[in-house]
Amino acid sequence: MIWHKQWIFGNWKMNGNLADNAVLLQQLAKINHDHALVGIATPFPYLSQAVDLLKNSQIIVGSQDCSSFAEKGAYTGEVSATMIKNCGAKFVLIGHSERRTYFNEQNQILRKKIDNALACDLIPILCVGETLEQRQARQETAVVGKQLTVLQGLSVNHIAVAYEPVWAIGTGEVATATQIEHMHAFIHREILSILGENVTIRTLYGGSVNANNAADILSIDKVNGALVGGASLKADAFSAIIANAQTE
Ligand code: PGA
Repeated sequence: MIWHKQWIFGNWKMNGNLADNAVLLQQLAKINHDHALVGIATPFPYLSQAVDLLKNSQIIVGSQDCSSFAEKGAYTGEVSATMIKNCGAKFVLIGHSERRTYFNEQNQILRKKIDNALACDLIPILCVGETLEQRQARQETAVVGKQLTVLQGLSVNHIAVAYEPVWAIGTGEVATATQIEHMHAFIHREILSILGENVTIRTLYGGSVNANNAADILSIDKVNGALVGGASLKADAFSAIIANAQTE
């Protein structure tokens, strides 16, 4: 069932503290969101707090990354997919552009993270997107196509991908409806050719989604949801975005 709703997922990035989170999570827990799947990606230290405070809601909790190492061991600072799962999380963002930019994450490492997430039954949400320079050079589909090759050979029935043009993240600049529609159609086609015609796909758009533009974005063909950064830190804004999720 979750694979046939629109997904509205929040990405807190490196924000929050126990006191502020508690207020926000209690507000989120009251939101009516039966028509959509709602998720929150918190920093690692707050996973258990979020799972606990959302336990009477249907909102799912996830992390923003996981280790590429599968087994426990001497990997100082790393957090395994198994640990994330153990905290009650249900999904993990993989390859967010900030991870690609600041930590130089590329397909080889990202594939290990995807495999680790799947091995412990976490839903990986693969984030893809081009930079401004790449779009200006008309390389956006080539870039996203290459990022999607990380899925080659995966054996899955369902896959979730977030298209986040890097130039639209945190900038207030949203891709146009035409740009979003073209890229989402391209991503769907690519995934079907990589994973087979029977795979169920969720493609989320991310990049400056807010209460005012959510309705337009969520009604674009093949936009199956939104990945929301800044606006997910405010209950009112996030709730308004959720209210605009379409029933598919
Ligand atoms: P933004 O971030 O909504 O603040 O642009 C989106 C994201 O990075 O997932």
